[in-house]
Amino acid sequence: MKRVAILISGGGSNMVSLVDSMVGEHPGRPCLVLSNVPGAGGLEKAKARGIATAVVDHKPFGRDRDGFEAALNTVLEQAQPDVICLAGFMRVLTEGFTAKWAGKVLNIHPSLLPKYKGLNTHARAIAAGDALAGCSVHEVTAELDGGPILGQAQVEIRPDDTADALAARVLPLEHKLYPAVLERFLQGDHRPITLP
Ligand code: GRF
Repeated sequence: MKRVAILISGGGSNMVSLVDSMVGEHPGRPCLVLSNVPGAGGLEKAKARGIATAVVDHKPFGRDRDGFEAALNTVLEQAQPDVICLAGFMRVLTEGFTAKWAGKVLNIHPSLLPKYKGLNTHARAIAAGDALAGCSVHEVTAELDGGPILGQAQVEIRPDDTADALAARVLPLEHKLYPAVLERFLQGDHRPITLP
């Protein structure tokens, strides 16, 4: 069984879908849900599922990213994860972190990468007049939202779409894509997939 740590900052809907997928024959099991935000809604959901949780609040570290990541690593090393899934985790990780955990960190990003790295992805796709939007799961490297893409799912942008309406159609796809990619990744299959 592979050990999967999940990092969150908020409600953790992607964390829930990952956790709920890791049953039966699935090669992974959640070993830790860690949030940089004390009181993040996802922490309660993880506790309700009997999963170990931790909080490493980034605020006390201010701009000291290395200090925050050292505290993060202390908790992560104890959990001994084989894979770390960023799931709505809203902190940028330094090259030191991505090098330490090289090849073990995945992230889900709400755009069809390489388009729209960073924030406000759905609003940017709408503003650009794109026909399609969606989400991507990628390996985390030093380049923000820039690592190898492991999976994508797409939806059509509708004429009257708002960013919220579009996000509401993409999120359920994230909940399907991330578990599908994680299972394959844990089996050593890094070939990119596209849903549906
Ligand atoms: C999702 O849109 C995800 O793509 C992004 O954070 C948002 C919230 O995720 N990374 P969650 O509900 O906290 O998993």
